[in-house]
Amino acid sequence: MNSDTHLQVLGISGSLRIASFNSGLLRAAQELAPDRMEITIFDIKELPLYNGDVEAQGDPSSVIALKSAIRDADAILFATPEYNWGTSGALKNAIDWASRDRQEGSLMGKPSTIIGAGGRAGTGRAQMQLQLNLAETGSVVMVKPGVLVQAFAPQQFDSEGNLIDKQTKELLRKHLDEFTKWIFQLVRPREFVRHACEMDTSA
Ligand SMILES: Cc1cc2nc3c(=O)[nH]c(=O)nc-3n(C[C@H](O)[C@H](O)[C@H](O)COP(=O)(O)O)c2cc1C
Repeated sequence: MNSDTHLQVLGISGSLRIASFNSGLLRAAQELAPDRMEITIFDIKELPLYNGDVEAQGDPSSVIALKSAIRDADAILFATPEYNWGTSGALKNAIDWASRDRQEGSLMGKPSTIIGAGGRAGTGRAQMQLQLNLAETGSVVMVKPGVLVQAFAPQQFDSEGNLIDKQTKELLRKHLDEFTKWIFQLVRPREFVRHACEMDTSA
């Protein structure tokens, strides 16, 4: 478990594009995260396709790094694009590898949430599919308030995929605030009560 005062959140983008809107959402999340939350981004582009034969020889270094980053985190923030009504193959593959870890701190029981940008439905269908995948891993997913961004570049993102839209930033900030409270309620209930009491007395 990490330090008492800070939540360590691991951000994973399902898009490998350099100017990806979803990776841009994660970078914006790093800036907008509440004081008590720190977001580190894990890049999944080096992961090989899941293969039981490769696994039987021992996890490749990128897989070891992924599993260990998940174990070190209090929670996971997934940013998914929508490809053919589902999440990307790259993100599903990362989850398949990660799901093979059953040690303490793995996806089993780990709080997570999903945000996404792209397409006409703002990744709604991809997010639903991802919720199902995560349910099987044992990760506990916060669904509301939700961040579903219908990405209409260049209004919302600049040419490098950085989020520039104020309304979307506000949505993201709200989602991260709720995520923080929810993680404390879920995994740090005693600390949550103490924090709530401190807020009461300072009001
Ligand atoms: C193979 C492929 C399939 C796609 N399928 C859908 C889809 O089913 N629904 C949708 O709304 N957008 C779809 N899109 C559009 C993506 O959601 C959009 O390109 C998005 O910006 C990708 O995320 P990124 O900017 O993070 O790379 C698809 C794009 C690709 C490349």
